[in-house]
Amino acid sequence: MEIHTNIPLKNYLTMKIGGNARFMTDVHNMDEVASICQKAKEKSLPIFILGGGSNIVATDKGFNGIVFRMRIPGFEIIADDINSTTIKLGGGENWDSVVKKAVDLNLSGIEAMSAIPGTAGAAPVQNVGAYGQEIADTLQSLEAYDKQEERFVTLQNSDCSFSYRDSIFRNESIGRYVITSITIKLSKNQPKPPFYDALQKYLDEHKIKLYTVETIRNAIIEIRKNKLPDPKFLPNTGSFFKNAMVEAWQLNDLRAKYPDIPTYDMGDGRYKVPTGWLIEQLGLKGQLLHGMRIYNKNALVLINESAKSYTDVANARDEIIGKIRDSFRIQVQQEPLEI
Ligand code: EPU
Repeated sequence: MEIHTNIPLKNYLTMKIGGNARFMTDVHNMDEVASICQKAKEKSLPIFILGGGSNIVATDKGFNGIVFRMRIPGFEIIADDINSTTIKLGGGENWDSVVKKAVDLNLSGIEAMSAIPGTAGAAPVQNVGAYGQEIADTLQSLEAYDKQEERFVTLQNSDCSFSYRDSIFRNESIGRYVITSITIKLSKNQPKPPFYDALQKYLDEHKIKLYTVETIRNAIIEIRKNKLPDPKFLPNTGSFFKNAMVEAWQLNDLRAKYPDIPTYDMGDGRYKVPTGWLIEQLGLKGQLLHGMRIYNKNALVLINESAKSYTDVANARDEIIGKIRDSFRIQVQQEPLEI
């Protein structure tokens, strides 16, 4: 296992911003994970696990510890019955390759999460989701190295406290677990409506009436191509903000002023309001703030066009958050994790 020193994080993050990692290494199996975690503990160094680097923003001071790139492979069918197939995935598997393999096996449950960058092990951290599916819907359990207990543990879905773009891995257990594998249970039934609005609209417009995992995957890939810029050419982290959650009384106030406000009923008295819509109402779509371009096809995405450092990213973010707060009295949050 080679350990490299002073590696620019910006070369590993799709936003192409960030200082140096003091140490960086690749891990390919569970033994390597345990051994690095023990070494880090002896030397009192923090650890950060990098999947695809597509949902991370790094500050200019970088990371004074060990960054390890999760490379553990694996796609293993561990159970199969008349209705479902259960698959154990190595934490380092490329997420979209996993979706493609599942679709090739005619299994349903993650096809709407096609073309999301990143790795399988990173998916539970922010409860990755798109077009009506999220990893919490199919995840059965996961294996992780528990740095506190200094051993491998299995966590069940219910242990992870999943909610919209959130889990224990971003909250009370931040930094505690290194996810080495996830186990997902997929269905043998073909996808059925009702579909997420934008997906149904695409299917109707393209006269797609046969709903299979393959037609849904292909539709999603096309929809995403239009709404989400390819980070290879335009550095970005997908949605830069979470959608906002508001209470019913707040929504009533907003509706009085903005009768067209789009909302999604969370069913628990709260409503999701799309932050992209809020940003668009402010007239910011397509504008350049501190070197960050608010994507003209989707205001939820910030593209690093000419930002010189993390400070520029933070200034653009804070300006947008401030304007939303001043105009709508809504506090929105950054979506990508920050190190
Ligand atoms: N909208 C606007 N203007 C914009 C962008 C969006 O008015 O510039 C409106 C749309 O018209 C629509 C609503 O906002 O009424 C929702 O838009 P969309 O369906 O495109 O989804 P989103 O809320 O912008 C979320 C996820 C995406 C995911 C899509 C599809 C978050 C933070 N983002 O975006 O996930 O792909 O739904 O399910 O929840 C990501 O997390 O990085 C990500 C890309």
